[in-house]
Amino acid sequence: MSIEPDPELLGALDAWQHRAVAHQPPWPDAAHLAAVRDRLTTLPPLVFAGEADALRAELAAAGAGEAFVLQGGDCAESFADATADNIRNKIKLLLQMAVVLTYGASMPVVKIGRMAGQYAKPRSAQTETRQTEDRGAVTLPSFYGDCVNSHLFDARSRTPDPERLLDGYHAAASTLNLIRAFTTGGFASLLRVHEWNRGFTRNPAYARYEEIAAEIDRAIRFMAACGVDVESLRTVDLFSSHEALLLDYERPLTRIDSRTGLAYDCSAHFLWIGERTRDPEGAHVDYFAQVRNPLGVKLGPSVTGDDALRLLDRLNPTGEPGRITFITRMGAGTVRDALPALVEKVTADGRPVTWTCDPMHGNTITVNGYKTRRFSDVVDEVAGFFEVHRGLGTVPGGLHVELTGDDVTEVLGGSEQIDADGLARRYETLVDPRLNHQQGLELAFQVVELLRAH
Ligand code: TRP
Ligand code: MN
Repeated sequence: MSIEPDPELLGALDAWQHRAVAHQPPWPDAAHLAAVRDRLTTLPPLVFAGEADALRAELAAAGAGEAFVLQGGDCAESFADATADNIRNKIKLLLQMAVVLTYGASMPVVKIGRMAGQYAKPRSAQTETRQTEDRGAVTLPSFYGDCVNSHLFDARSRTPDPERLLDGYHAAASTLNLIRAFTTGGFASLLRVHEWNRGFTRNPAYARYEEIAAEIDRAIRFMAACGVDVESLRTVDLFSSHEALLLDYERPLTRIDSRTGLAYDCSAHFLWIGERTRDPEGAHVDYFAQVRNPLGVKLGPSVTGDDALRLLDRLNPTGEPGRITFITRMGAGTVRDALPALVEKVTADGRPVTWTCDPMHGNTITVNGYKTRRFSDVVDEVAGFFEVHRGLGTVPGGLHVELTGDDVTEVLGGSEQIDADGLARRYETLVDPRLNHQQGLELAFQVVELLRAH
């Protein structure tokens, strides 16, 4: 028997509409948007509430130091890249990084893709102006992500089109379907640990990976010979996540769980509220306070301890473990100064949070006209994050990174030493620069050292 939804809860789920909703695209046709919302309401949920509950429990373990979170994927996914090859390569890199961390640090790894829904971006400027040859300076709406408009620079492409929200739903559904197939159908089995590395040979990170893979093989053969059931090695749980930005998408995909009568945003297992939309009095915080999913909040260097406590008052008043992950993104030069006071204040409050480090967004620079990051800054911010938490006796619980499984050249440095000129070789991102396959793996090895140092 299913539980009837509580009318008070249904009211609370729509209360955000009375608040300022930051960073929504300038949709030109409200009636069209409303029609699309109605369509989304009728479509099946993409995830099951019970899966979100399982993830919440795993995040609680990470907050307590019993697991480590690996969250990664594109800055912005694109519809054109929702291909089998692209999705497979990204999953492969996440699995390789997870193997390195699980084996190297003897820690369970909670695997979350920035995948299957990361199609919308907040923009600081509503419009973009470019010089054109024939018409001089042209100003058009900014690119808000594939589920709003197209990055192509012409008036038609840049006009926000609500139909794209439906396209986003379908791209997410097919991506998630392939993720489920790969993670449960044999591809992700630890018995295939070597195969994820195939084709990658020259780089030192790949040689180190091969050594670990050989040790894992031996260990599995040993366990099998001893009669241990290795069934749990054949599949993985890879959860989905994206920034909770477009409330006209998230609200229609929120469903009442028939088991409990509670609301879950069934567009993904995990949603995070961005640095630009985390106003405790704003619509985003008001809305996500009503859903049961585990939530992240990005915290940049301007955040105060009191801001963080106000967020907990709204999003996790009772202090449920695993409910809130604070994803700090301070910058390599700032993390050691800005993080301690924040962590101390939250720790003194007593409500548990899971702390993870986003070493990407505080380290963005422009070189030769390319938006990029230095790999050394990324590593340094992670190191600073560990230092601060170790110093305070708190738990550095995970990593949130922008990466792709492909061989792009968007981030400077790494063992292939991508330099300023090298950026031009294969710079493909639509928004922020991502770690490539080799840089992702290299970062995992560095994090193992940090986890072991304790
Ligand atoms: N299921 C286990 C886990 O998720 C073991 C495992 C299977 C695994 N395939 C994996 C671990 C790939 C890391 C990467 O931990
Ligand atoms: Mn980004």
